[in-house]
Amino acid sequence: MKEIIHFTLNGQQVSAEIESHKMLIQMLRDIFQLTGTKYGCGMGECGACTVLIDGLSVNSCMYPAFEVRGKSVTTIEGLLGEGNQFHPIQESFVRHGGVQCGFCTPGMIMSAKAMLDENPSPTDAEIRRGISGNLCRCTGYVQIIDSIRESVADYKDRV
Ligand code: FES
Ligand code: FES
Repeated sequence: MKEIIHFTLNGQQVSAEIESHKMLIQMLRDIFQLTGTKYGCGMGECGACTVLIDGLSVNSCMYPAFEVRGKSVTTIEGLLGEGNQFHPIQESFVRHGGVQCGFCTPGMIMSAKAMLDENPSPTDAEIRRGISGNLCRCTGYVQIIDSIRESVADYKDRV
């Protein structure tokens, strides 16, 4: 069964015709061509598919697409500013070597954003907890935590 849903995607009002068994990640990647959101395990284990719904991080591989009706979805593409300027967290990942193959990076950054929106001055333990649902198969956790920690000052200024 298909239905048309309306929701906000990266700040724009959008609509999509979606089959009821489709997950949010399929709608984002296949209908809206937002391929920054990655499909890893498909089981809620790796966090590669993390997006924000009404500001909270969710695994889009487990989230039925039609449930975003009337909600606000933010993907990694939605973090870019004017002229495609990187978000402070993205900049910090580049500066501090938080990206290796890059597969986990969009999900890590979306989880970090959800955490920093809630707690703009996290301790390292809180950063670790904030990304505890995200796996990095390149195991670059030290640089990822550095990147998030070092983004905090810029983040407060610009977000
Ligand atoms: S792809 Fe969604 S948690 Fe792994
Ligand atoms: S940078 Fe490769 S999976 Fe994290």
